[in-house]
Amino acid sequence: MLSNSPAENGKRTSLHGNWTSRMAFILAVTGSAVGLGNIWKFPYVAGQNGGGAFVLVYIGCVLLVGLPVMMSEILIGRRGRRNPIVTMALLGEEEGKSRQWQWVGVLGVLAAALILSYYSVIGGWTLAYVLKSGAGAFDAADPDTVTAIRDGFLGSSANVGLFHTLFMAVTIFVVARGVERGLEQAVRFMVPALFVLLIVLLGYSINSGYFGAGMSFMFSPDFSKLTWGSVLAAMGQAFFTLSIGMGAVMAYGAYLPEETSIGGSSLAVAIADTSIATLAGLVIFPLVFANGLDPAAGPGLVFITLPLAFGHMPGGVFFATLFFVLLTFAAWTSAISLMEPAVAWLVERFNRARSEAAMLVGGSIWAMGIATVLSFNVLAEFTFLKGTLFDNLDHLTINIMLPLSGLFIVLFAGWVMCRNSTADELGGVDLAYKLWRIFSRYLAPVGILFVFLQVSGLLDLFGGTR
Ligand code: PHE
Repeated sequence: MLSNSPAENGKRTSLHGNWTSRMAFILAVTGSAVGLGNIWKFPYVAGQNGGGAFVLVYIGCVLLVGLPVMMSEILIGRRGRRNPIVTMALLGEEEGKSRQWQWVGVLGVLAAALILSYYSVIGGWTLAYVLKSGAGAFDAADPDTVTAIRDGFLGSSANVGLFHTLFMAVTIFVVARGVERGLEQAVRFMVPALFVLLIVLLGYSINSGYFGAGMSFMFSPDFSKLTWGSVLAAMGQAFFTLSIGMGAVMAYGAYLPEETSIGGSSLAVAIADTSIATLAGLVIFPLVFANGLDPAAGPGLVFITLPLAFGHMPGGVFFATLFFVLLTFAAWTSAISLMEPAVAWLVERFNRARSEAAMLVGGSIWAMGIATVLSFNVLAEFTFLKGTLFDNLDHLTINIMLPLSGLFIVLFAGWVMCRNSTADELGGVDLAYKLWRIFSRYLAPVGILFVFLQVSGLLDLFGGTR
């Protein structure tokens, strides 16, 4: 039987081992944060929401809401040192409140599972593009050819399903082996390499003749285009890209050595993550305009623009292949962190072997992923509320579940946990601590609630701008 009570020094220890260093932790959280959200999702959501104003709100959300939530999640994780569900229950009890806070953990674990179900499908898509670009399919291709290749791929449920299966299999493989070895190594190489490759692509896009158009699309805000719906989308994107609001960072925090600075690590991750998303936007939008494409084209955007760009570059086949390999790695290190919370829960709660738990969780999520696989072909016409099954899943998780669970997390850290507990984890009462406390008690929760109320129409301060 596992004991959940603290050891003599008042601290619990993790049951899954710890990160070997502060750097390892930062790399792991960066690996989780940098993924499809930065390169696949950010440009197309920004495109659909009109560019500039959306980007500003998104950056605002990262700083004002994202950072405090991330710090709260890590500190809760490290103090609890269990999976998110048990951690929330234990801390709720220890702080003299209720064990029922465990439901926030449940919400997070569920959100992570739902997200992974479609994340794995898109991860599979990048994997498929490694092979296609390796085979030279995009060499000197024009927009029509590239679009036809994408439609051909998405149109086949067998193909999309096959790559979804492969992607899930490699994710299960790493999670089953445990977090420390494979993962740390992969991230150490992957994030810097991705960064360098994006810079190379940036050079190409600067020369495309449309760099100015791309810049102004991204950075000159036209607030008349901004609706409360797009503010919510910006906030959801901030949560998604930082991997917060679903227990992933909380689970990683549980393996964090006692002396590591939570504020500093969170800031480093947020900076790395935002720079990669911004770079991706700066690469992609000039190419969109140079090729007469629609910035609001949706999930296929990067799968069209980048193959086109590579197709016309010297050494394009090589660079395209390398790029999709790196993107697959980025997606992989994120997928692992999406699976970890549920796996840690199964291991701790039912005493399962890690490998068995990974297969059980991965298998169930794989099955849920079929809904997304079919959304792009067989069930493409089956739409309701926000669109296809995939669109609804995406909206439910990113725009509703993540901000909601983020709200409860900051409320818990800011109001339920006493000052001593949080100061202990964040390393004393200095300026950073005071700032965190003001943000997590007031600004972040009020901000999240406000956006929710505006979108739901319950609070209509600005008169019908929904
Ligand atoms: N942050 C990842 C990305 O941007 C997605 C993710 C979300 C990963 C939540 C883990 C947890 O792609």
